[in-house]
Amino acid sequence: MNITEHLNQQLQGRRPGFSLEQIFYADPAVYAHDLDILRQRWFCAGHVSDLPQRGDYITTQLGPDSAIVVRGPNGEVRAFHNVCRHRGSRICLEAQGHAALLVCPYHAWSYDLEGKLKAARQMPETFDASDYSLKPVALKIIEGVIFLSFANQPVDFTLAAPALKNMFGAYGWADAKVAHRALYAVDANWKLAMENYHECYHCTPSHQEFSRLHTLAKPKAQRSESEHILLASAPDCGIEVAEFEAWPVEPDTEELVRVIRSSLYDGTVTGSADGQPVAPLMGDIKAYDGGCSFAELGYLSSFLAYADHGLIYRFIPRGVQRTEIEVIWLVSNDAVEGKDYDLEKLIWLWHVTSLADKKIIEMNQAGVNSSAYEPGPYSLMESGTELYIERYANELAKALKAA
Ligand code: FES
Ligand SMILES: [Fe+2]
Repeated sequence: MNITEHLNQQLQGRRPGFSLEQIFYADPAVYAHDLDILRQRWFCAGHVSDLPQRGDYITTQLGPDSAIVVRGPNGEVRAFHNVCRHRGSRICLEAQGHAALLVCPYHAWSYDLEGKLKAARQMPETFDASDYSLKPVALKIIEGVIFLSFANQPVDFTLAAPALKNMFGAYGWADAKVAHRALYAVDANWKLAMENYHECYHCTPSHQEFSRLHTLAKPKAQRSESEHILLASAPDCGIEVAEFEAWPVEPDTEELVRVIRSSLYDGTVTGSADGQPVAPLMGDIKAYDGGCSFAELGYLSSFLAYADHGLIYRFIPRGVQRTEIEVIWLVSNDAVEGKDYDLEKLIWLWHVTSLADKKIIEMNQAGVNSSAYEPGPYSLMESGTELYIERYANELAKALKAA
């Protein structure tokens, strides 16, 4: 039996409502299929405030692919494959930088900020530079948040875009700026990181700091009426966010998206050590509403908006059992560090929470790797994770059939 047949058999035999067999978290062949699946989808690459001037760029990776996202001469943002059209070298090597021309470090072919090849030495007369522009990468910007897909024909974003626009817009993210970013390297398969992020079953035992503030840490049945919130929106406070969920039957054709509202405990207005404000209110928000909003896009991007700051979570698969989680903190564009916000206070909650997540995801992988591991049942508080794993299993089954 070859590996494809074996994986097919494992998928067909799997128990719904249970975590995956070890092989899906450990095998290079599965990981290769995973990257193919992820390549078809969209993921968040960052925020446009990282590119204030023309020539500012960021790079971002997914498996073997790398993109340059750069602000062009007229202020527009474009994305290109970070692959030189000469013999294929990476062009930009840094995560972030500034350049008037994108110059390949190998033989110095040079591209303008619109991706056009401007200089290539010693080429034959028949050479036409216009045949060798950088290849574009699909890009969407929603209220300042950058989304990319490495597919030639990415899955449909039609359902996801307005839901995200509504949430990011309500919090003024188009006029936000990156206050801080941190990278947490996690020795685990990307699916274990994703599974962890989509359930709050672990919040009470693993995140005391989060659980003191967020009612999400409690089972639904134990929340009081006021805590139950799915706080409809809070128009009096200037925050109108519609909850939204799109779980297409065919997850490989349409992007998955979910936006939920959630309440904080009484007296808590934001995600900070004491639940008190840590930065000026964002966008047009007039007052704290005692809640927050979560969003998820596809498998790799999650978002959390408080009234005074926001968070972007980027899950970056780096290897079969290696994942980076990048956390980006957003504040209002005109907030000044040291005056309007204290960086340590701003990042405290999600720094301690992310460190704890790193630890538990790695523990999870260690146990999954052992000979005694077998798939276990998801609890009632892990329904989000279960949904993602079901969709993933469907998608992988399709990919294997096509292989
Ligand atoms: S590979 Fe880029 S200039 Fe040669
Ligand atoms: Fe967590």
